[in-house]
Amino acid sequence: MARVWIRGGRVLDPASGWDGPADVVLEDGRIAAVAPGLAPEGAEVFDASGCWVAPGLVDLHAHLREPGQEYKEDIASGGRAAVAGGFTTVACMANTDPVNDDPSVTDYILDRARQDSPARVRPIAAATKGLKGEVMTEMVALGQAGAVAFSDDGKTIMDSGVQRRVLEYSRLADKPVIVHAEDRTLVRDGVVNEGPVSTRLGLPGNPAAAEAVHVARDLLLAELTGAHLHVAHVSTAAAVGLLREARARGIHVTAEATPHHLTLTDEAALGFDTNTKMAPPLRSRADVRACREGLADGTIDAIATDHAPHAVHEKEVEFTAAPPGVIGFETALAVVLELVREGALTPLQLVAALTWNPARILRLPAGRLERGAPGDVVVVDPAARWLYDPAKGFSKSRNSPWAGRTLEGRALATFVAGRLVYHADRGVLAP
Ligand code: DOR
Repeated sequence: MARVWIRGGRVLDPASGWDGPADVVLEDGRIAAVAPGLAPEGAEVFDASGCWVAPGLVDLHAHLREPGQEYKEDIASGGRAAVAGGFTTVACMANTDPVNDDPSVTDYILDRARQDSPARVRPIAAATKGLKGEVMTEMVALGQAGAVAFSDDGKTIMDSGVQRRVLEYSRLADKPVIVHAEDRTLVRDGVVNEGPVSTRLGLPGNPAAAEAVHVARDLLLAELTGAHLHVAHVSTAAAVGLLREARARGIHVTAEATPHHLTLTDEAALGFDTNTKMAPPLRSRADVRACREGLADGTIDAIATDHAPHAVHEKEVEFTAAPPGVIGFETALAVVLELVREGALTPLQLVAALTWNPARILRLPAGRLERGAPGDVVVVDPAARWLYDPAKGFSKSRNSPWAGRTLEGRALATFVAGRLVYHADRGVLAP
């Protein structure tokens, strides 16, 4: 029976509200105890002094590209990158090839994950067949196969009648519907935020209203159906305002923001770097501020990476032709620690947005350090400074806007089911 004693750290457990010194003991794959001054017998000691000890991070929005696009990423490489970033659970989007719109694909993903991934993988199934926005998937069967939510992410369901039915049926499966809120008729060929930056670059703009229009529609449909709506990668002040008002009215809606939308503006695209191209695009300074405020006041619940690997040859093309998306597992923690350093969030709020809140959105038994809970823990060195080189990372792809930057804070060690699966000095240790 393996017993691990994570000793002397600052424990941050948002579920219980604990922020203070304590030891954590893992046993039989689970959390056995959390309290100051423990001294378990026969335990392997992990010295966490000077570090934060938190529940393993939960990413409710990532793209692992398997099946079908393994040259960008696969479940094994994505799982390694995840634990290297401190993530112990990742939910993967359905825009694979074939699309995860059938229980056989959900089964396949879970099977690969069990064999290949050091992180726990939870599939998100498509809401409509082939992500076409026309015919609903068999949501109850997909839920029974292990899907934790439904989403056509990457695409928007433009037909409001279809979206209404998706929301209604999601209630039978008791799972959230995650929406990619971008009205295609407003986005058109827009590739950067519409405003001074799109004008200077001479590139087609994607207006903030494209997001807000869609969020407004879906909030009305969530109210109509009583379903749990989750808005992915919120990027605009207008959407944050709509979400705040909807929550006040009691609509069952949750939301996430990404590290990039919380820290970068559209000005990052001024050099035509395609690693600053994503959907939705990076927005204005006022939008970034509003997303941060939304996170601080609970309008936005979670931080999700939207880890979206693309190969070098796909990104090394003109801006309009490059696929949108950036990788994020290995940089997320360092990037969002900036919000704590700047006083926008408390450490406990930040950890909640990365653990307990996303776990609750997906109804997962994760994200907390309670006795009996899964032994998923991250030890964070919040002050470590390190140079990020995607070529030395665990993802197969390199499309990061933070390449070559010195970052502050990182996962020192990641435990999954009571086992050390990653250590910053030793790399990924399992499976
Ligand atoms: O930037 C993005 N990339 N946004 C999405 O919604 C899809 C994702 C991808 O799959 O590459």
